[in-house]
Amino acid sequence: MQNVFPQWEIVRWLTATVPWPYPDDGAATFLRNLVIPSHDAKTAWHWSIRPKERANLLIGSISLLEGPEQNRGFWLDPAWQGQGLMTEASNAVTDYWFGTLGKSVLRVPKAAANPASRRISEKQGMRVVSRFVSRLVSGEQEMELWEISRDEWLRHQHSRSTA
Ligand SMILES: CC(C)(COP(=O)(O)OP(=O)(O)OC[C@H]1O[C@@H](n2cnc3c(N)ncnc32)[C@H](O)[C@@H]1OP(=O)(O)O)[C@@H](O)C(=O)NCCC(=O)NCCS
Repeated sequence: MQNVFPQWEIVRWLTATVPWPYPDDGAATFLRNLVIPSHDAKTAWHWSIRPKERANLLIGSISLLEGPEQNRGFWLDPAWQGQGLMTEASNAVTDYWFGTLGKSVLRVPKAAANPASRRISEKQGMRVVSRFVSRLVSGEQEMELWEISRDEWLRHQHSRSTA
């Protein structure tokens, strides 16, 4: 994670709480202070993303998080973007959110200017429910809050499987 994550194309779209410039112990601190405690408390679920043929190579990450408005976050090494990998990962963890965890709604904030992230939500049948401004690593950005309910997700999955 320390080798791959600190790239401007990734961090520019993430919340300003991500330290930038990224410190040498940034990934270890993040894992120790946030990922492991939230995993143990069962308030968040984290997956690393690895190519099937190179399972020891971390190329991205996707997380689910308890809370009212920030339930999913993801990033992928730019070298691996544009192949549908995060669409596949997002569909898998969204199934987990509604199916395994039994949640009733999934909400994710994202910058209005972030077309790849917006497209993933659009393809999942999500909709924008509010707009606001937030501070990202790249500065103040117009944001959109995307949402989908459990029933909408199940209907969307059904229509995809029968299309
Ligand atoms: C968002 C991100 C994870 C997407 O990963 P990915 O594996 O490349 O995504 P996918 O290939 O599954 O899907 C991306 C979709 O966006 C589309 N897209 C990508 N760049 C685009 C652009 N500049 N304009 C329009 N559409 C774009 C792709 O065509 C694809 O849609 P399609 O399947 O209809 O063709 C990756 O871009 C990333 O890590 N970005 C930086 C971190 C970030 O933004 N995290 C989310 C914060 S909310």
